[in-house]
Amino acid sequence: MAKIIAGVASSHVPAIGAAIDNKQTEEPYWQRVFSGFEKSKEWMEKTKPDVCIVIYNDHASAFSVEIVPTFALGCAEEFPPADEGWGPRPVPVVQGHPELASHIAQSVILDEFDLTICNKMEVDHGLTVPMNLLFGSPKAWPCPVIPLAVNVVLYPPPTAHRCYMLGKAIRRAVESYPEDLRVVIFGTGGMSHQISGPRAGLINSKFDKAFLDNLTKDPRKLTRITHLELMREAGAEGIEMVMWLVMRGALDDKGDEGYRFYTVPASNTAVGHIILEPKRRAAGKSKRVTASKAKRPMGSKPRRAAAFKSNLQSVRKGKR
Ligand code: DHB
Ligand code: FE
Repeated sequence: MAKIIAGVASSHVPAIGAAIDNKQTEEPYWQRVFSGFEKSKEWMEKTKPDVCIVIYNDHASAFSVEIVPTFALGCAEEFPPADEGWGPRPVPVVQGHPELASHIAQSVILDEFDLTICNKMEVDHGLTVPMNLLFGSPKAWPCPVIPLAVNVVLYPPPTAHRCYMLGKAIRRAVESYPEDLRVVIFGTGGMSHQISGPRAGLINSKFDKAFLDNLTKDPRKLTRITHLELMREAGAEGIEMVMWLVMRGALDDKGDEGYRFYTVPASNTAVGHIILEPKRRAAGKSKRVTASKAKRPMGSKPRRAAAFKSNLQSVRKGKR
């Protein structure tokens, strides 16, 4: 059975990507930002997920404003970096996981979340910058990635509660996938920022820090935040934080915070970052779970697949 082993949230400021691409990471302004991700890169190196699901938003790069899907799931074999006006970023092409992605599409849509299926999609800084922050700048990304783009650019975006419930549906989908895959889910964007209009440059550290506290301890409280409240407190683009709730919904209700980092500003944005993972792993079981594979009773895989089918049937019959 596949399992979501941890959640990661991180801001996705495009200037962070430009600092990497232009080799400015050692400059004091940027060093302050990148130093906060050193431990996270070590954690990721040890954790070695088999697949990452990255919840991010497209900034009118892959989708023009002519077509704006609320939730778009990347089911393709690969996702090239988008040209955001300066040519595509010099980062590796993201390799997808079409089998797990199709399974998620089937499970989540039959669970009554209407995803748009994308069999061809480019990915912008919303996805590539958090990848750099957690994986560094390798020649090839070390694991396949399933992108899930959320509309936060054109009114109306999905509510915080809808995002949280989508996370729960994604977890059900992952846990009904028969292969033993260890999955890390990312929520990206935020924290407080507004990049245009009279309040451009707005940052609200008090709000951001309370958001981080609640993300760990009381995510349901965050699901009651309205769009207006988010925009008033965290700026127009602070609305991106609803995407963190997709990630949070996919984890246990009781959160275990592994690591947190916060600094202001990077470009116009407060940079927030958190790693949430169940305690049993934080206590040292970070090795790949080969033991459970060895212990799997013969024939249990088909039984799981059968359980998944019957789950889908009860969804179709409206039992969930
Ligand atoms: C900035 C932040 C973003 O999240 C974004 O998508 C674009 C710009 C910024 O801080 O400049
Ligand atoms: Fe953004």
